[in-house]
Amino acid sequence: MSIHDLKRGATTTGLVAILFAVAIVAFGVLALLLNISERKAESSLTHFRVVDIDDETTDPAVWGQNFPLHYEGYASTVDMERTAYGGSEALPREPTEDDPRTVVSRSKLELIPQLKRLWAGYAFAVDYRQARGHAYALEDQTFTGRQRVVQQPGTCMQCHASSYVAMMKLGEGDLYKGFDMINQKPYQEALKHVEFPVTCIDCHEPETMALRITRPSFMEGVKAWKASQGEPDYDLANATRQEMRSFVCGQCHVEYYFSGPNKNLVFPWAKGLKAEEQLEYFEESGFVDWTHAETGTPMLKVQHPEFELWSQSVHAASGVSCADCHMPYQRVGAKKISNHHVRSPLLDVNAACQTCHNRPEEALIEWVETTQGKHEELTKAALDAVLDLIDDIVAAKEAGATDAQLERARSFHRKASWYVDFVDAENSTGFHAPQEGARLLGEAINHARLGQSALREDVR
Ligand code: HEC
Ligand code: HEC
Ligand code: HEC
Ligand code: HEC
Ligand code: HEC
Repeated sequence: MSIHDLKRGATTTGLVAILFAVAIVAFGVLALLLNISERKAESSLTHFRVVDIDDETTDPAVWGQNFPLHYEGYASTVDMERTAYGGSEALPREPTEDDPRTVVSRSKLELIPQLKRLWAGYAFAVDYRQARGHAYALEDQTFTGRQRVVQQPGTCMQCHASSYVAMMKLGEGDLYKGFDMINQKPYQEALKHVEFPVTCIDCHEPETMALRITRPSFMEGVKAWKASQGEPDYDLANATRQEMRSFVCGQCHVEYYFSGPNKNLVFPWAKGLKAEEQLEYFEESGFVDWTHAETGTPMLKVQHPEFELWSQSVHAASGVSCADCHMPYQRVGAKKISNHHVRSPLLDVNAACQTCHNRPEEALIEWVETTQGKHEELTKAALDAVLDLIDDIVAAKEAGATDAQLERARSFHRKASWYVDFVDAENSTGFHAPQEGARLLGEAINHARLGQSALREDVR
């Protein structure tokens, strides 16, 4: 059974039945494993191999024969359950020729109406939804409305598909070469080389099950970032296990851009991870994602900087990793395993938070939701400020202002939009780093107002 089968049978009852069957098989195998393990006190899980897996085994179901509980958790990422601000929701839809999906997540363009104008003229203003589980990563990318307005490059695949084996095959063992080859293909071409969404082989070394990094964009990004922090000889091989528990996620949950005609996937970290450091990087190169349809401003778009905002948090400073909250340990019989049902920690506060925070579940949820509520209010204020600046630039344009007169205001527009986007494109609604988020929203409001005063000075 593959994750594809799970997805195809995506009626809820079918799914429950399948998961139930998987669970029964899983428990059977586990009982056997536990039985053996009693006699092998020192042994690790990797010793109980039912099948051989190697560096070409992409199918998670095959890995699942050796690690049924991990597979079960992974397969559960098809579940859709919402929380107050996050999670994901299965909204029914009529399948069309373009898009066979029968359920999709909530539209963020409907939830936050200002976003359509923030991104006017860009594909994101057409379709942008709440993220859902890893099981959907490939299909949601294939069928997003953004595919229908722009010819997307194969680069998109790097964070949505299990692309490791495809890269190794295309590059004949040279990961970087295979990476380049996939990036340069048109999306539909690249799609032919992959089969699954992100899976076991993308995070694990098959022989030892150790965590590993499989994406050249992160290998290069982390080097550039460490060099900017005064560590020019940084070697990823020396990363600690605790660091790896965040680095594997940092391969995808980060801001990125496509560099040059080959559409190389690059993380803009050469000046550091903070929002203003990434902005400075783009300001230096003059990079432009799109031109704003209303104001004519050369714009930047931010995507999911979870790793970057988390890195500014109290949790990161205290050594708490992504996996600590999103893949907490669960006890199964005598074993402790990492829960591979990656999802909102608020759906499992007991395992995700209470191991460290001795507070009742309701209190913890309220703690998070209070932060998120305040964050949402401030985000709306910042978005409104940026839209005010857009209104003013449009009015000045209509009144005949020249490009020279609009230059400073547009530059503030570009920056204000960058700051608000760095926060609204992040998926924790302010939880990962509340103070940093508030600071960035302050920067957005400030830049929007500076743009309005620049207009008053420059357009007379
Ligand atoms: C201290 C615990 C904690 C840590 C550490 C943490 N997160 Fe989160 N994360 C949360 C909480 C709480 C939410 C909000 C969930 C919600 O609103 O339902 C969240 C939300 C998310 C979401 C959106 C989930 C959804 O259901 O909408 C993503 C994606 C995410 N985190 C990724 C990461 C990544 C990647 C890292 C590491 C770079 C990380 N998180 C570190 C607790 C944590
Ligand atoms: C650096 C990694 C990375 C690259 C490259 C990438 N994505 Fe994603 N994508 C993610 C992550 C992480 C999420 C989940 C967080 C979120 O939704 O913001 C996501 C979510 C999505 C979603 C679901 C939410 C939404 O936006 O509607 C779609 C669709 C999507 N990406 C399409 C694309 C397309 C098209 C491309 C190529 C232009 C692309 N992605 C390139 C990492 C990436
Ligand atoms: C290869 C890229 C990749 C890696 C590695 C990756 N993610 Fe994701 N993640 C995605 C994409 C893409 C989505 C959005 C899928 C969709 O919406 O269809 C996503 C979605 C999520 C969600 C939202 C789930 C939900 O139910 O709403 C969470 C939480 C999350 N990832 C956390 C993590 C954590 C924690 C790690 C590291 C242990 C991690 N991810 C590693 C690409 C990745
Ligand atoms: C997005 C990255 C990611 C994916 C995909 C992933 N894992 Fe893991 N896995 C982790 C992390 C993080 C840990 C914790 C490792 C640590 O603490 O050293 C882990 C730990 C494990 C362990 C060690 C025991 C434990 O529970 O901590 C096994 C076995 C394992 N995973 C199997 C699998 C299998 C099988 C799949 C595919 C069905 C899979 N993993 C997919 C990130 C991932
Ligand atoms: C591995 C341990 C660990 C886990 C797991 C963990 N935390 Fe924390 N948390 C800490 C530490 C350490 C601090 C720093 C403050 C302190 O020393 O008490 C902290 C601080 C906080 C703060 C205050 C700082 C801030 O950013 O506002 C909140 C709120 C919080 N945690 C909520 C949560 C929630 C909710 C979860 C589960 C989703 C969670 N934590 C999971 C260890 C953890």
